[in-house]
Amino acid sequence: MIMKYTKQLLTVFLLSVTCLLQAQRTETLLEKNWMFTKGDFPEARHTDYNDSQWESVIIPHDWAIYGPFDGSNDLQNVAITQNLETKASIKTGRTGGLPHQGIGWYRTRFDAPADKEVNLLFDGAMSEAHIYVNGKEVCFWPFGYNSFHCNVTSFLNKDGKNNTLAVRLENRPQSSRWYPGAGLYRNVHLIVTEKVHVPVWGTQLSTPHISKEFASVRLRTKIENAGNDEIQMETKIISPDGKVVAQKENKSLINNEQPFEQNFIVNAPQLWSPESPALYKAVSEIYVNGRLVDAYTTRFGIRKIEYVADKGFYLNGNHRKFQGVCNHHDLGPLGSAINVAALRHQLTILKDMGCDAIRTSHNMPAPELVELCDEMGFMMMIEPFDEWDIAKCENGYHRFFNEWAERDMVNMLHNYRNNPCVVMWSIGNEVPTQCNPQGYKVAKFLQDICHREDPTRPVTCGMDQVSCVLSNGFAAMIDIPGFNYRTGRYKEAYNKLPQNLILGSETASTVSSRGVYKFPVEEKKGARYDDHQCSSYDVEACFHSNIPDEDFALADDNHWTLGQFVWTGFDYLGEPSPYDSESWPSHSSMFGIIDLASLPKDRYYLYRSIWNKKAETLHILPHWTWPGREGEVTPVFVYTNYPTAELFINNKSYGKQSKNNSSLKKRYRLMWMNAIYEPGEVKVIAYDETGKAVAEKSIRTAGKPHHLELISNRQTLTANGKDLAYVTVKVVDKDGNLCPLDNRLINFSVKGAGKFRAAANGDATCLDLFHFPKMHAFSGMLTVIVQAGETTGETILNAKASGIKATSIRLQCI
Ligand code: GAL
Repeated sequence: MIMKYTKQLLTVFLLSVTCLLQAQRTETLLEKNWMFTKGDFPEARHTDYNDSQWESVIIPHDWAIYGPFDGSNDLQNVAITQNLETKASIKTGRTGGLPHQGIGWYRTRFDAPADKEVNLLFDGAMSEAHIYVNGKEVCFWPFGYNSFHCNVTSFLNKDGKNNTLAVRLENRPQSSRWYPGAGLYRNVHLIVTEKVHVPVWGTQLSTPHISKEFASVRLRTKIENAGNDEIQMETKIISPDGKVVAQKENKSLINNEQPFEQNFIVNAPQLWSPESPALYKAVSEIYVNGRLVDAYTTRFGIRKIEYVADKGFYLNGNHRKFQGVCNHHDLGPLGSAINVAALRHQLTILKDMGCDAIRTSHNMPAPELVELCDEMGFMMMIEPFDEWDIAKCENGYHRFFNEWAERDMVNMLHNYRNNPCVVMWSIGNEVPTQCNPQGYKVAKFLQDICHREDPTRPVTCGMDQVSCVLSNGFAAMIDIPGFNYRTGRYKEAYNKLPQNLILGSETASTVSSRGVYKFPVEEKKGARYDDHQCSSYDVEACFHSNIPDEDFALADDNHWTLGQFVWTGFDYLGEPSPYDSESWPSHSSMFGIIDLASLPKDRYYLYRSIWNKKAETLHILPHWTWPGREGEVTPVFVYTNYPTAELFINNKSYGKQSKNNSSLKKRYRLMWMNAIYEPGEVKVIAYDETGKAVAEKSIRTAGKPHHLELISNRQTLTANGKDLAYVTVKVVDKDGNLCPLDNRLINFSVKGAGKFRAAANGDATCLDLFHFPKMHAFSGMLTVIVQAGETTGETILNAKASGIKATSIRLQCI
């Protein structure tokens, strides 16, 4: 009986504690009930402004992704020096050909208790954001990629109700080298706390000692408005499996704005790595005079990073080389509007390729990406800038650098210094400041900020002006010298630089279009064709760049290389090199290993064959449907993790090929350069090191297009109004063979609980708008993105095209 009573009491007590906890801090996303317009309406800051004619939107929102595409959008008359251009020329599509320039206004209303502390946190606002609450400007943040926050407490209505939030954004022309996106493209958070509270990004967690036996965990927590009150902090360390593995209760006065420090020992820690991304939590409760005033959770990982001269990179004591990719922030057909399901889809594809690292080129990422990298296991190089004080773009960040760089760096560092996935900071990409004799001072200024705010990680910088940086002290000063391309100079730099390490901070820039092959098959730099595509034989690069094989060899042959970050994992909007000078309608990149529709190009399998050590890769290219090429030389390449394979065309053997050192390409690819095209079947049999036949793969010449095939990346979606399914659409013959030359228009409709969100085909010249439910196939394929609604139930995607059989797929929103 007594036991029962005690239990009841305990339940009541626990419930009230939970309520109390919830009452301390609330964080809400301001997603719905926003109004938006393009154009400048300064009066819109005021409470009584009538915005009823504006468009109703949901945040995150990218105002430019709906197009229309136009070659005159952000036309730039520039010389692209990285492409060795010396004379300016008209660049079309450099920033995607979408209408992102100009001014836009957003308005919404929110309630917040006026007797609390109220902060607005913007994960990013593109760009030059002026924030107004109830008619008064509460903050300004120029850099569109960074997160920032404003304390709006003193601007709230007396009763806390119906506060007007207005945001003015402006994108100037010629401010970017790629599609920047536009608008409130990341989340806006409303954070309500007590007066005494942990501020935004208020904790700094480090793990000064890590061994198999134990890890020490140091938590420093900033507390605002503590005054002379004694603070009591109770923190529990929760293991990845949800157990309390350490806890402390400490009391202290917060003097001189010193953070409140607590230290813990975690025995037998589960270490974070890409292969095993174990995450802990530090859950803190803050009391003043016995009253709970705040509860704050810091998620973290325990892992050891070491960059050892001459030896390379070690994670938890294990040597490894970065198998990384660079990515811009846009999500292809979704534009820059952030979406967790889209990010997760990208990372899932990269994971399967064996990729283990991401460089957020050349800007601060969305917080959701960093969280997912923690959870899914990707190491990150976070990079803030593409230019410092010297311009790359007429209206680029150099306009703000001197006044804002430190604040931008500090926000970035505070935002992400507790994330275990982050293993280094980059301070910039190919900044023209590299060649300024005083440039190293600017670099030192930025590197020092990193060291001051986060002494646990080294700093790199993507350098491309090798002669300058080797002679002017710039490269010698950076913790980790990062080279962009310039593969021929790695060795020299290694010998000259004191760090005795070189990172491939940006590599390859190989160009290709999914499913497009050019003959004869030859290595080329800057090759251009009438159809504005590049060859998927993966032998074409830009003048400043190279094919993947060179970077594989640098990693394999030199213990002092740290590995690489390939340009790029995914194609992105803008920078349609080599079709950037007066080459409309080209408007998106060809660098991606994966295209703009999230469909892997052949190159994906080349990287996978080397990077993914666990899965079998056996991939044949090109496709085998070449009406008119009968009897012509049509080389066959095989990307495989196996050392040897034999090729058969219609059962006739073309012999065995083994990877060997006679040329760079032959080290990493199997190639039958003399294969002759005849319709039918291409088959390869792969052999392991012992000569045993271990795998077989074949592709066939496609017959007449017959029907559509739909393959979804998932069958069930969460009914949260945001979740996405990526459905691959293929034009196939009656036997299911892909028709790789088919580019017909396909129409879509989505019924039931979900809706059509976007489509993309990966063709950098295609002007079909992403948000219309019809699109041309490209090389026989495209992707449709279906978005969950907020109600549960079935959703059906129908696809039809003239001349072939329609089809549909059913998904569940739960
Ligand atoms: C690099 C640059 C990247 C991208 C790439 C294209 O030099 O850092 O942003 O422009 O070239 O090859």
